[in-house]
Order: sequence, then C-alpha cells, then structure tokens
Amino acid sequence: MTRELLIPLVSCLFVINQASLIHRCDLAKVLHQEDLDGFEGYSLSDWLCLAYIESNFNISKVYENADGSSDYGLFQINSHYWCNDYKSHSENLCRMECQDLLNPDLFSSIRCAKMIVSRAGGLDNWIEWKLHCAGRPLYYWTTGCRL
Ligand SMILES: *[C@@H]1O[C@H](CO)[C@@H](O)[C@H](O)[C@H]1NC(C)=O
Repeated sequence: MTRELLIPLVSCLFVINQASLIHRCDLAKVLHQEDLDGFEGYSLSDWLCLAYIESNFNISKVYENADGSSDYGLFQINSHYWCNDYKSHSENLCRMECQDLLNPDLFSSIRCAKMIVSRAGGLDNWIEWKLHCAGRPLYYWTTGCRL
C-alpha cells in the first residue's frame, strides 16, 4: 500500500479505537447529569472507581465469563441477571438488550446500574468494587473535573 493511503487509514483506526474510551471528567459530568452523585448514598467518586475497575473507562468492553454469560459495558453488567444477549439464559432484570449497554450515550448502562445498586448490598453487588474501591479514600477521582 502506498504511504498516502496508509496514513489516513491508520489514523482512522486509531480514532475508532479511542472512541470506546471515555475520559474521567467527561464521565463524571455525565454521571452527575444523570443524578448518580449521592444516588443510594454513593458519591461520584464511588461510581468513577467502579467504572475504572470494571472497564478501564471502556464503554464497549465485553468480557466472556467461564459460565457462558458475558459482562457488558462501562460497568460490566452481567447477562445472566440483568440483560439479554440471546446467548444463554437471562433473568433480564433490567429489561434490556445487553447490546444497549455498549451505547456511547451511557443511558442504558446508567439506568441498569441504578437498578442494581438499589438492591440489597448496593455497590457491593460488584465484587471488584468491594475489593478495590470500598472503604478507600476516593476523592481524587473527581479532582480537576468541572461538573
Ligand atoms: C474496549 O473493549 C473492546 C471490547 O472488549 C475491545 O475490543 C477494545 O479494544 C477496547 N478498547 C480499548 C481502547 O481498550
């Protein structure tokens, strides 16, 4: 391939790949707008830590579990309980398609996360949050963010 063709192609792929990542402060802003700050007693920093631990801020992350279920999106929401991916049995408690949890507008992910955190255990329903975020100083997650 000629160099003239290759360079635009490579930079195009780079842009597509980057598009799945949301910046920390952009995410803080969206979560704030969607009223997650203080929702069920959890701060914005709690939610940012959760998103980072689960997906590294990758909105389109899909992780296949050993049991045949998959975890979808920013908050890695599981298809066995919360959404339907038509691959294995699902309780579909959030009444949505798992694919919607990969949408860049984050609307479905936030709606489903609110349902999950409203249940007994709150954010402890995410084991990774319990292991890596719970009970730690987290204020720095929102440092420098204008909401
Ligand atoms: C985000 O996740 C998707 C699906 O798991 C993966 O293909 C992609 O490489 C990830 N993006 C980044 C920037 O890590």
